[in-house]
Amino acid sequence: MNPKPSIRHLLGKKTFSHDELVILLSADKGEQNLIFQKASEVKQNNVGNKVYLRGLVEYSNICSKNCFYCGVRSGNKNVRRYKLSESEVLEAAQFVLDQHFASMVIQAGELSSPQNTCRIGELVRKIKQLSQGKIGITLSLGEQSREIYRYWHDCGAHRYLLRIETSNPDLFQKMHPQDTFHTFEKRLQALEDLRNEGFQVGTGVMIGLPFQTYDDLAFDLEFFKNLDIDMVGMGPYIEHKDTPLYQYKDLLLSPLERLDLSLKMVALLRIIMPDINIAATTAMETIDPNAKIRALKVGANVIMPNLTPLKYKEDYLLYEGKPNIDEEAQQTLNYLIQSISAIHCEIGWDNWGDSLHFFHRHPENKEIEPHS
Ligand code: 5AD
Ligand code: SF4
Repeated sequence: MNPKPSIRHLLGKKTFSHDELVILLSADKGEQNLIFQKASEVKQNNVGNKVYLRGLVEYSNICSKNCFYCGVRSGNKNVRRYKLSESEVLEAAQFVLDQHFASMVIQAGELSSPQNTCRIGELVRKIKQLSQGKIGITLSLGEQSREIYRYWHDCGAHRYLLRIETSNPDLFQKMHPQDTFHTFEKRLQALEDLRNEGFQVGTGVMIGLPFQTYDDLAFDLEFFKNLDIDMVGMGPYIEHKDTPLYQYKDLLLSPLERLDLSLKMVALLRIIMPDINIAATTAMETIDPNAKIRALKVGANVIMPNLTPLKYKEDYLLYEGKPNIDEEAQQTLNYLIQSISAIHCEIGWDNWGDSLHFFHRHPENKEIEPHS
């Protein structure tokens, strides 16, 4: 039998086989720093030291789905449901404009009613109007029909986030109710529809789910690559006591192990997809308040400061221990800006910070980015 290749040796290679990814993901604490260093170099050489900020608005926690891991699943009756008013969303847009972020993400539970579809479309139009086209809009509103995606794109949204959650169909099934509403195939179809409607498409997974293996995570990285995805947001799975998955909490890695694994996933993804956008996610911050900054150092280049009005923040708990729910956006932001400059990263003010990968695939679209 061949001896296990060293992490240092593997990192010298241009591409990794599936088994090599598994070895890299299982690197121990000492070895993982080699992966982080390599990812940091790859990041610098491909996307530079810019960090793009996107104001995140958690528009509503009303959701028709019932995912086993999520605190705002429809079956959780302990949640006070809310929806922001139009003026609350437009206030957040004004904040984005005043702060020179130039980008906004509207995220909510999944709803497909015609009223909801129109309300979102109108909001997108109004944000575009208010900002004279300066704000780039990302939507994260779950699986929808291709027609709805087209309508929202026509209204002016140009990026969409829809996580696959796990690329292993069997594990996906374990994480969701077994009905026609929660299927792996529909999720894949939605990702394809988004791509075909012209969106820059982001996806992602949870890391450290019960029953998930290193093998699954290596497949997740290969999934992103095979889908030729433009953006990724991924982070640790954090258990929530009002969800069915909570019963498996004793099977989980420790939170710190889940965070390390998440950082290794970010770093390896940066190495294998050098020009995509990778977000430093809030779930990471639940485990370590400095985790977003650590993620930036090992490959991430996007941060989404939360602009949900304070009075709703405590109702949008997909998982427990979510940070900064009692702080005003401005306060959290000041600290974030300081921490970013302390690691010698630069904020891409007034810039949509679109995925370079998208433009490398579609050089003809470069002119749609007015702020680069
Ligand atoms: N832990 C971590 N992430 C979660 N999400 C939902 N529930 C959890 C949880 N318990 C993530 C899912 C979803 C995104 C909006 O939030 O990946 O796609
Ligand atoms: Fe709804 Fe998203 Fe939570 Fe699933 S993960 S229950 S779709 S908000």
